[in-house]
Amino acid sequence: MWKVQSGCNFGLKTFVLSRNAIGVGHARVAVIDNSYVTGKQQQCQAVQLHQPHRCNSSASRLTDYKRGKGGRSSFSGMVATVFGCSGFFGKYVVNRLGKMGCQVICPYRGDPYDVKELKLMGDLGQILFLPIHLEDEASLRKAMQYSNVVVNLIGKNNETRNFSFEDVNYLGAQRIARLAKESGVEKLLHFSSLNACPNPAGHVLPEGSEFLRTKFKGEMAVREEFPEAIVFRPADMFGQLDHFLTLYARPYRRVAGLGGVTYIPLYKKGRTTVKQPVFASDVGDGVVKALLDPGCMGKTFDIVGPHRYRLDHLITYIYQCLDTVPATFA
Ligand SMILES: NC(=O)c1ccc[n+]([C@@H]2O[C@H](COP(=O)([O-])OP(=O)(O)OC[C@H]3O[C@@H](n4cnc5c(N)ncnc54)[C@H](OP(=O)(O)O)[C@@H]3O)[C@@H](O)[C@H]2O)c1
Repeated sequence: MWKVQSGCNFGLKTFVLSRNAIGVGHARVAVIDNSYVTGKQQQCQAVQLHQPHRCNSSASRLTDYKRGKGGRSSFSGMVATVFGCSGFFGKYVVNRLGKMGCQVICPYRGDPYDVKELKLMGDLGQILFLPIHLEDEASLRKAMQYSNVVVNLIGKNNETRNFSFEDVNYLGAQRIARLAKESGVEKLLHFSSLNACPNPAGHVLPEGSEFLRTKFKGEMAVREEFPEAIVFRPADMFGQLDHFLTLYARPYRRVAGLGGVTYIPLYKKGRTTVKQPVFASDVGDGVVKALLDPGCMGKTFDIVGPHRYRLDHLITYIYQCLDTVPATFA
């Protein structure tokens, strides 16, 4: 049995969390060491064993036990599930939420070692992990059942043997939104993509981007299942270990040409592509503000940076900063 001593003293008593309650320290949870349970809580506990998210007794909801003035060692009253926490942007979101005193549930699908860094982003017992599978509704429901906020960062920009674009960007998003609604989640923040549309124009691929098409379908499905969802449509995000600057900086993007010249293959030499990248940390701030502001419910935000750049200019600048080979485009 995996036991987590939350160490959280809510002014009344210390709660002991156990894995039976999926290790999640939401106090709607039937996790309270019996020696500390009050009559009201015991009653609630019995109900919760069968209907975990139906009990509305304020005596047993962790979300009602706000404490502190903000910061990592306080508790904001927010219990947030962050799907896609293992990705590039997941770290920014978990860190922001941990910093404002949220309890964060981190569902992951791979090796637990891949998400171990997230543990440090919150106070003891506030960052909790749960294995899930995107097609297993029971595991998804379990990850959300004690949360009042869900952030969905799951997305894929390449297809794999097991998951097509449609499976991840559309059906997965729809499933999470539906289960969030059924679980009584109050706020859902879904990540789509800038330029997501039903018929993306063809450029390199004559039929247009399947990623953007499925992202759009996912966005629409989320709206249908969870009308008050907040949708973020970010442009390329840059930050540590991003998929934008590091992508162009990688050696496999360079092709050796004649006379020792190194080329970076780009569509029309990058002269017709315009980017408006945004700093991931700023988007992280935006996530927190959107979750705290009731006026954002049901809205869609295009998230872009302050400046627009031609792609070839941007990559020339990246290579200047790297101080390695000069960038030549083909
Ligand atoms: N980064 C950008 O510049 C950018 C731009 C526009 C939109 N977005 C959108 O913003 C969101 C976050 O971006 P990101 O850069 O953090 O993406 P990322 O690094 O690729 O992370 C994607 C996350 O989704 C998870 N995931 C993918 N397929 C899954 C599946 N079949 N089952 C379960 N989990 C799955 C990944 O888990 P594993 O780690 O296990 O693979 C990972 O945690 C995504 O929805 C992305 O489409 C990003």
